[in-house]
Order: sequence, then structure tokens, then C-alpha cells
Amino acid sequence: MQSGSLDSIASMVRAAKEIVVFSGAGLSADSGIPTFRDGATGLWNKVDPDEVASIEGFLRNPARVWSWLLQLKKLVDERQPNAGHQALARLQASCRGKQLTVITQNIDGYHSRAGNAPVLEVHGTIHRLRCQQRCGFSANWEESAVEPYPCPRCGAPVRPDLVLFGEMLDEEVFAAAEMRSLTADLFFCVGTSFTVQPAALLPVWAKRAGVPVVEINPHPTSLSAVADYSIRSGASEFFTALGAQIEAQQG
Ligand code: APR
Repeated sequence: MQSGSLDSIASMVRAAKEIVVFSGAGLSADSGIPTFRDGATGLWNKVDPDEVASIEGFLRNPARVWSWLLQLKKLVDERQPNAGHQALARLQASCRGKQLTVITQNIDGYHSRAGNAPVLEVHGTIHRLRCQQRCGFSANWEESAVEPYPCPRCGAPVRPDLVLFGEMLDEEVFAAAEMRSLTADLFFCVGTSFTVQPAALLPVWAKRAGVPVVEINPHPTSLSAVADYSIRSGASEFFTALGAQIEAQQG
């Protein structure tokens, strides 16, 4: 990582009032949670997302989707936030007088567990269940709930409260994410391949609105050419180094 970039980015953090951190599966890679599209370990290179993570798949075979997501939930519950999540939580704690908003595509809840708030989970969470008909029923997803069951309120199927392929994002959450992205002074994108819209549009909208965009990813992506900084680094390494650089600048 070029030290010049780190120093410039640290200065930008210190000058910013509204910071957005937009994260994808790569941020949780150091926690031992596989990403979706990375080489042989990518989850979608092992199973068809249409079968295990789409609304059509759920309506076709609810138990299949439930069991695949449950094994992912068990892995998430066994692991914990990594140094990248913790560095972001420290960054937030040190940002007195600033607003740092996390917008995440991740469903693992690790940002909140590390201490960041607010966290806009644009793809929902693997820790909660809801009624398929959105009658209002919701509950924490305990690992003892091993198969789909009828909503206690209305009898419709109960399903994990995350966005399955083919579903719309929660309008309120996405509108808040869009507003934060357009009004930020600094927009970090970390650990995402920008494959899935509309979430992947947020950094593009921010850039168009004149917001400086910093991408952190060991590999180039479709955003690399337009980002103000495209840092070839892992998330944990970068955000830990950034925190140290900010402290060094503050003396
Ligand atoms: N630090 C930073 N980035 C990393 C790291 C790391 N340690 N390891 C991998 N990456 C990068 C990869 O280079 C890749 O660009 O993280 C990215 C992960 O991309 P994907 O697996 O496509 O995950 P993501 O972008 O979050 O997927 C978006 O697709 O399947 C849907 O809903 C799911 O939210 C997910 C969405």
C-alpha cells in the first residue's frame, strides 16, 4: 500500500464530516466466512444461488433454502468480527463530531457486533426471521429453528429476513443508504465485486455526486478505474493501518 495514499486518505478522514463505509463479503473473509465469487472458495462456485438463495428457489423448495442458509448462519455464529471490523469500530469511536455510516451488503451482523452504528443492512440479516407476507411477524433466528414453519400470526411461510435473489430491497433502508451516499464527504468501498445491483450503484452515485471514493480490494474491480483511490490491500490490513496513520497525524 502506497504510504502517500494512506497519508492523504487519513487527512481526508480527519477533514470529513460525513463518512460512508460500504462493505461486501471481502470484509468478512478474514473472519473465515467465504466470499461469494472468489475463485474455488466462492460460495456461488459451489452451489447454484438460484436453488439456495432466490425467492423462486424458496417458493419451490423452502426447506432447501432454509437448510442452506442455516448452515451459513451456523458458520457466522461460530466466527466473529475480524481486525477490519474492529478497526472500523475504533474509527467510528474516534470520529467525534463526524457521522460515520456503515452500509453493508453483508448479512452476518459483524459490523454491529464489532460496535459500529448505524449499520444499514441493505441485504438484510441472517439473524432474524420474518413472515413471507410481511404481516408484521418477526423473530430472532435461533439455530433450533431447523425448518420452515407457518407464521404464528397469519399462517404464511416464515423465512430468513434477508434479501433473496429476485426480491426488492427494503425501500426505507435503501433510501437511507442512497441519501447517505450522496451527502457524504468521503465514501469507502471495501470487499465488494460490485456485482449485484442496486447496492453496487451506491458508489457510482456517490462518485457522480462529487464524493471522493476510496476502494479497498486486493483485486481490481469495475470501480477501480473511477475511484479516487483504488488500494490493493485486504480490509483488515488497510483499516488497521489507516487508524494508526490518523493517530500519527494527530500527534
Ligand atoms: N479484503 C478486502 N476485499 C477482499 C478480501 C479482503 N481480505 N478478500 C476478498 N476480497 C474481495 C474480492 O476481491 C471480491 O472483489 O471481496 C470481493 C468479494 O466479492 P463477492 O464475493 O462478489 O461479494 P460481494 O461483492 O459482497 O457480493 C455482493 O452478491 O451474492 C450476493 O447478496 C450477495 O451481498 C452479496 C452480493
